[in-house]
Amino acid sequence: MAKINPHYRKLSAGYLFPEISRRVAAFQKENPQAKIYRLGIGNTTEPLPPAVINGLKNGVERLASLKTYSGYGDEQGELALRESLAALYLKRGVTLRPGELFISDGAKPDSGNIQSIFGVDNLVAFQDPAYPVYVDSNVIAGRSDSYNSESCSYAGFVYMRCSEENGFIPEPPAEKADLIYLCSPNNPTGAVASHQQLKKFVDYARKYRAVIIFDAAYADFITDPALPRSIYEVDGAFECAIEINSFSKSAGFTGVRLGWAVVPQALSVEDSEPGELNRLWLRRQTTFFNGASNIAQRGGLAVLSPEGQVECKAVINLYMENARLIREGLQQIGLTIYGGVNAPYLWLKTPGSLTSWEFFDQLLSETQVVGTPGSGFGPAGEGYFRLSAFGHRADIEAAVAQIIAKLKI
Ligand code: MLT
Repeated sequence: MAKINPHYRKLSAGYLFPEISRRVAAFQKENPQAKIYRLGIGNTTEPLPPAVINGLKNGVERLASLKTYSGYGDEQGELALRESLAALYLKRGVTLRPGELFISDGAKPDSGNIQSIFGVDNLVAFQDPAYPVYVDSNVIAGRSDSYNSESCSYAGFVYMRCSEENGFIPEPPAEKADLIYLCSPNNPTGAVASHQQLKKFVDYARKYRAVIIFDAAYADFITDPALPRSIYEVDGAFECAIEINSFSKSAGFTGVRLGWAVVPQALSVEDSEPGELNRLWLRRQTTFFNGASNIAQRGGLAVLSPEGQVECKAVINLYMENARLIREGLQQIGLTIYGGVNAPYLWLKTPGSLTSWEFFDQLLSETQVVGTPGSGFGPAGEGYFRLSAFGHRADIEAAVAQIIAKLKI
């Protein structure tokens, strides 16, 4: 008799973004004329720049010729792409070997799958609020006991509270956690950890032989040169951190799909030698994944070319200008707003005593602007609301104007 994986039943609700889409679709059905402004999911909107399009075309054309056709490639990713990524890290003073880089179809699958190389009895710590994939993937793997609907949290997990008081960057946990998920620049709060803040986590992880899973998917949105873009900029991180990154947001590959993970040779845990986790991740990927699309990888190489970097930076700047417009517009009407300076997300306090979902409904019905309720990212997100700066400029301007003119606060 077949049985389901019972841990799925522990998940508190459906995945956040489909739930938002469901509510927006219901609103649109009742208000067919309404123009809806989507500042909810962080979905890129601008066309890919010419150098990247040429790279993708080159990937397609290579498939058309007997000489250059390729089927399955290196499961770890094209060597040229891994070497280009290593060269990018080197510019930031970080030395990586291509064997430490694993090309994937994005940061979401990597951040969901990476937990599978660790034992089920590891104690896991998350920033609260956090990108839901970290928590959900660990629930599904069986690392939590049950969901507590009063505290809106899972028993058996460590929640590192991110609040106004700590600038949304927590201290390492008081207890000994084994796996620690960090995201900086942070989704959803837009906060960025400094070297000193990351150093505390690295020192903690080395002390307890814990592993930091560092999601740097928004690193290219950092505007302040003093802030770290990779955890490996911090001494000692090679021994205790895995880094995940993506072409999705920085190069508009949300639909193309391309990302990478770094599993250093020096990384080890209580019961492993250095090198073993790197081999386990390769084993995991070669078993479950046949490598990223060869077309996407050609696109990735083009992103990393000098022209690609300049052109992608211009698109990032456009989104960051959107973030400025949102921040300044909403501040004008007295809303308290964080983030949006070194990250494409803005984190605002819901006005009055509105819950995150109450504010979602009010914003949608009064202004037709869609955002993301902070409580969907964890218990400490209650009373907050995320706006994404990904959008066409005209839509962002119209959304901000709608909020200023119509939101009743
Ligand atoms: C988000 O809106 O949090 C992200 O776009 C979701 C994702 O990248 O998977």
